[in-house]
Amino acid sequence: MEQTFLMIKPDAVQRNLIGEIIARFERKGFKLVAAKLMTISEPLAKQHYAEHKGKPFFNDLVSFITSGPVFAMVWQGENVIESSRKMMGKTNPQEAETGTIRGDFGIVTHRNIIHGSDSSESAGREINLYFSKEEIQSYEKNVDHWLS
Ligand code: TYD
Ligand code: MG
Repeated sequence: MEQTFLMIKPDAVQRNLIGEIIARFERKGFKLVAAKLMTISEPLAKQHYAEHKGKPFFNDLVSFITSGPVFAMVWQGENVIESSRKMMGKTNPQEAETGTIRGDFGIVTHRNIIHGSDSSESAGREINLYFSKEEIQSYEKNVDHWLS
């Protein structure tokens, strides 16, 4: 089953939006298979955002993403990579539709709440950057079993 790497950025952790954001992916029907609150080192930030090296916003992006804890996650489900990008909305929150995470909670591009992998290649790469195989859970859900 398809997996993607999603990360609640330092601005959203500070603004108490972790629960709100996780709830959206749970309600959608995707399955959380790994998660941790962590502070990103500068080398990891530079690796994560390697594609943007040399761009005018790169240094500020690395400073921002390492400035405080992030909530890193792996989510699983059919078409989860593309669906979660839709749920996040456009990179610039001012262009993101209302109803999307960035559209509802963000105001500026450099503090845009959430990261999500943009392809199966980046998903694989980013999951491996942040999580070991042992940290990723494989499990079935059965709500009825837990109600009695
Ligand atoms: P990008 O990969 O283009 O966006 P997305 O997060 O939607 O995949 O850019 C990575 C991050 O860099 C983006 O989330 C916010 C930051 N950024 C800026 O600060 N300024 C910019 O002009 C752009 C394009 C991105
Ligand atoms: Mg990107």
